[in-house]
Amino acid sequence: MSNKQAKTPHIALISSTLDMSFMKVAFEKSALDVRLSIYPDEDFHAADVAVAWNAPHGVMASMPNLKLVHSIGAGLDNIFADPHLPDVPVCRVVDSEHALGMAEYAIWSVLLFHREMDRHLQNVAERRWERPDQISARDYTVGILGFGTIGLTVAKSLRAMNYNVRGWARSPKEEAGITTYSGADQLTEFLSGCDVLICLLPLTAATRGIIDADLLSQLPRGAALVNMGRGEHLVEADLLAAIDSGHLRGAVLDVFQKEPLAKDSPLWDHPKVFVTPHIASMPNPKDVASQIFENATRILNDLEPLNPGDRNSGY
Ligand code: GLV
Repeated sequence: MSNKQAKTPHIALISSTLDMSFMKVAFEKSALDVRLSIYPDEDFHAADVAVAWNAPHGVMASMPNLKLVHSIGAGLDNIFADPHLPDVPVCRVVDSEHALGMAEYAIWSVLLFHREMDRHLQNVAERRWERPDQISARDYTVGILGFGTIGLTVAKSLRAMNYNVRGWARSPKEEAGITTYSGADQLTEFLSGCDVLICLLPLTAATRGIIDADLLSQLPRGAALVNMGRGEHLVEADLLAAIDSGHLRGAVLDVFQKEPLAKDSPLWDHPKVFVTPHIASMPNPKDVASQIFENATRILNDLEPLNPGDRNSGY
């Protein structure tokens, strides 16, 4: 941005679950003019900006100069979860490469089920030579539950591979070549045609636990689930019951109610569940640092920050 910067932003990196020194390295490598503190170093209190990922609740309320809270990813749920969150803008990272990474993960997951790689992996383990009929991508329907910026990128990537793609969002959205549905009254119709359902919803009070026995029962028999949203969207026990009853084909899960996934979770070794450790896509730390720097500079120059979230809707 061209505005003259009033002062060097003081940024506090705050997390209870991540070692945030990787962000310090990213700021340093980018040679951005910032002062950095890592919570709980004493001088974090004086910072203008909090860069937060599962920050301990109440910590940001103890920062008298705080003017901006920034996520290091797309999701703001862990920030809005703080009941003492000060009344300052909260911004997300919007990164087209991150969205493309999510599309790669979605493509891999869809191919796993559409091209029956789950079945072939099982056949290999049992040395069975089996050649099922091939289904055209155009006859295979992928439903994107949560049709925001990332949902749209994922949908377009799958569409480019000839899949029949549909999207559902809370409010109406339109996109050429993609059938869209909106609101609670169109959810059943949306679900009823999905061969694979991909969850890319934001986590809010309205979406917590949305993928439960009732929702899963509205998918056609033999459908599969891919959860790339948040673990709290899914009632894990309901998923296992739906797979074990034969209603669902299987699931790819990148996010979990509790992370890291507990060593004794039955999800790890279920033969029809593929677990990955929240790696679907990670924004490049240097790009994250430059977006945070841009917004910190804007805030210190009394300009509106980019990509703010809305605490009422929760995303
Ligand atoms: C990752 O989970 C993100 O919110 O970007």
